Amino acid sequence: MLDIFAPIAAACDISVPPGEGLPVAVVGAGAIVDVAHLPSYRSAGVEVRGLFDLDAERAREVAARHGVPTVYPTLDALLADPEVRIVDIAVAPAAQPEIARRALEAGKHLLCQKPFVPDEATGRELIELADRLGLKIAVNQQLRYDEGIAAARAMVEAGWIGEPTAMTFTVNIATDWSPWPWLVRNDRLEIMYHSIHYLDAVRSVLGDPETVFCAGGRTPGQLAAGETRTISTLVFPGNARALVHATHENRTGDPEALVRIDGSKGAIRGTLGLLYDYPHGRPDTLEVNSRSLPTDGWLPYPVTRRWIPDAFAGPMASLMRAVSGGGEPYPSARDNLGTIRLVDRLYASMDAGHSMPVE
Ligand SMILES: NC(=O)c1ccc[n+]([C@@H]2O[C@H](COP(=O)([O-])OP(=O)(O)OC[C@H]3O[C@@H](n4cnc5c(N)ncnc54)[C@H](O)[C@@H]3O)[C@@H](O)[C@H]2O)c1
Repeated sequence: MLDIFAPIAAACDISVPPGEGLPVAVVGAGAIVDVAHLPSYRSAGVEVRGLFDLDAERAREVAARHGVPTVYPTLDALLADPEVRIVDIAVAPAAQPEIARRALEAGKHLLCQKPFVPDEATGRELIELADRLGLKIAVNQQLRYDEGIAAARAMVEAGWIGEPTAMTFTVNIATDWSPWPWLVRNDRLEIMYHSIHYLDAVRSVLGDPETVFCAGGRTPGQLAAGETRTISTLVFPGNARALVHATHENRTGDPEALVRIDGSKGAIRGTLGLLYDYPHGRPDTLEVNSRSLPTDGWLPYPVTRRWIPDAFAGPMASLMRAVSGGGEPYPSARDNLGTIRLVDRLYASMDAGHSMPVE
């Protein structure tokens, strides 16, 4: 690797430091636990002690395939296991807040899935409960740890493109929602369950916007009840702007998933490899063109890890560091309230047909 990339690669570290192994139990044995959580935890050396799913047969099958030693008969049995320090909740989102409440009351630290909560008030209540009990909550917005995105953020932070002025995600793919009946029926779909990742990644680079506009749409003949095409515009204090344009009804077999950050002294551009062949994907690509380094045109950064499964170790490793050493996990539930607020404001804008402030 070129020496110049060494600090960027170091900033993308997702390893679980030795000695910080805190036993984990997983609630839910659905699609994402199977393809992402358990494979990434195994590679990272995270000890998964057991799991529980309402569908006991599914739980047994997934546990056996991934070498998870215990299948708990009930949620209470999981929460009563004194060895378990962290509960990773990965169920249909409507069930998450109540499981989170009970797990906190049982003294467990939490890794919650996106969307963390249906509204900010529920989020604040869970954060206050965790604070009172001295427990930590991380939210698994792992696109922040996808190597292409993490490296791009590190390049911005290192000043390689000067002052960032624009961040754009352009995603045009064919998404089969049919394996998730709870998603297919939902009248909130694209922003709430997919673009939430891009919006959170934008926040990780540019902070919180002050004004947003969102237009959502559907495609004739689509399966899902909710919006499958969205265009979100974010205006930040100062010069920075962001655009997230996502559509899931690509009928032409030419997927694209592009990210770009422009700045006063250069730009970063890349692709999200996962979305070219979900869930296997391919490596991200990333290039930087910098007047401050300087580079001679576009310089490729060698991405070596994938969004699925690798990036899923990031939030868990960060939570473990916060539990062992203090401080906040990245991203914490408190940080994630900004993403929840942003999603809420974008839907408010979509419904109203005009821009909305984000307090
Ligand atoms: N990249 C990502 O961050 C990412 C990707 C996909 C899904 N997710 C999130 O992960 C969560 C799970 O998604 P999935 O794709 O695995 O869904 P899924 O429908 O495939 O699986 C959900 C599982 O949860 C179980 N379940 C439901 N309610 C339960 C309860 N009260 N107690 C125990 N088990 C329960 C179901 O039986 C099912 O096996 C969702 O919140 C989703 O938004 C995140």
